Amino acid sequence: MAENGKNLDISPILEPMTINRLEIKNRIAMAPMNCNYTDPEHYMSRQQMAYYGARAKGGTGLIITEAQAVSEHPVADTYRKYNNPYLTSYKYLPTQSNFVEHVHSFGAKIFAQLFTGPGRQGSNDLGAADIVSASPIPWEQFPDKMINGAGYKHLKAAARLAGYHGEVPHPSEYEAFIKFIQGIPYLHACGATPREITKQEIRALVKDMGKGARIAKMAGYDGIEVHACHGYLVHTFLLERSNERKDEYGGGFENRIRFMLELIRSARKAVGPDYPVGVRFSASDDLPGGYAPDVAAKIAKRCAEEGADYISLSDGSYEAMSDFLPNQEGQVVDKAAIVKAAVKIPVICPSVHDPQNVVDVLRNNKADMVQQGRQQICDPDWVNKVINRQFDDIIKCTRCNRGCIFRFIAMLPVRCIRNPRTGQEEFIEEYMKRPILPIKQKVWQEAHDLTEENPSEIWEYTEQEFKEAVEL
Ligand SMILES: Cc1cc2nc3c(=O)[nH]c(=O)nc-3n(C[C@H](O)[C@H](O)[C@H](O)COP(=O)(O)O)c2cc1C
Repeated sequence: MAENGKNLDISPILEPMTINRLEIKNRIAMAPMNCNYTDPEHYMSRQQMAYYGARAKGGTGLIITEAQAVSEHPVADTYRKYNNPYLTSYKYLPTQSNFVEHVHSFGAKIFAQLFTGPGRQGSNDLGAADIVSASPIPWEQFPDKMINGAGYKHLKAAARLAGYHGEVPHPSEYEAFIKFIQGIPYLHACGATPREITKQEIRALVKDMGKGARIAKMAGYDGIEVHACHGYLVHTFLLERSNERKDEYGGGFENRIRFMLELIRSARKAVGPDYPVGVRFSASDDLPGGYAPDVAAKIAKRCAEEGADYISLSDGSYEAMSDFLPNQEGQVVDKAAIVKAAVKIPVICPSVHDPQNVVDVLRNNKADMVQQGRQQICDPDWVNKVINRQFDDIIKCTRCNRGCIFRFIAMLPVRCIRNPRTGQEEFIEEYMKRPILPIKQKVWQEAHDLTEENPSEIWEYTEQEFKEAVEL
């Protein structure tokens, strides 16, 4: 960054924004990232509370949670099934609500990302059902699109982490490399042919999306996001490459986006008009039979017409890991600008880590908000450091993928090689100790509207008691 950001005008980052009726205090979101911290029974863990709490404490305006399962239908439950938080049943409400309160107490807004399953990128290991997809077409590795930034040496290290002790072929020996990947059981069934998902199963998932959205709203999340990117089930419907269906979910553009729109509709129906509902999809799928950013713009337009309140962009899929996890700063910015030009609702651009670049994206109107993934893993205090102009103190993510994605793939809790505190937040008092907040005034207001009682009359503590409670 020029002159260590001495003259950088950071005001575009700090400008509040509105999604639906929700005000967000600044333009930085934490991108959804599954970090393998979830309790084995799918409840939010103490570590998750502390980890997300740390990012909220660090000034991040909007936190979007990792993918949370909305369905326990066997076709959805093939995602290394022990790691996602669940919003599939009311039994998760108390823990989810406590988790949301924790994040709120540090001043951030929080959306839940809702997931209908990994499709053909799932795994039938660990007792899960067989994998399904739009059509019975396996996913492949494309040698030019493999994960980058780490090198062969680190791939070998990652394989060891994943419990594999044999020879690791170089990716240039493609056949041998694929065989090696397939030899690691839970590595997302690369090359295995999925079964075509039935219409009945699609309907079950659409219904479960609504239920998940309702549970998220009840838990206190400020909004929800439908997950439709990265080569998972919904994404496979969008592509000509992976969708050869003959029914109303395959064929032309309108048919291929039908499932995605049905999910948005179902979520909206469950949460009502005043509650933020967004959708995340890849800004491109840069492989044969994929789609270019101008098609992403068309998808965004249709989502907006369906009632989505914002578009959160990502890129690529497991077949194009180098797009999914960009190795270049700003790799998705121009694609985001194409999408933004097509819609009036806010567009969130991923993978911009440098303060100067974030300002440029916002000032040049290429996106309304920036979401950071690995940079937030690396430094929870990015926003506060920018506010305090401590640009040199930002712990910069090197996009090496070693502590985060490689450990994630190996089913280990995510860490960061640049920040030893990452992944250990539950042992750091400042992230567990929370400012005590009263239950939401809004809830009382709603009760008041419904019962015509005066909220001040049902308030149970005196002003003094209240003040003492909220002081740390
Ligand atoms: C460990 C890890 C887990 C991720 N999990 C999710 C997820 O649950 N949902 C999702 O939409 N994206 C997921 N992503 C993708 C990120 O949201 C983000 O788009 C990607 O890391 C690129 O942004 P970055 O360069 O700022 O990291 C994950 C990324 C990482 C590193």
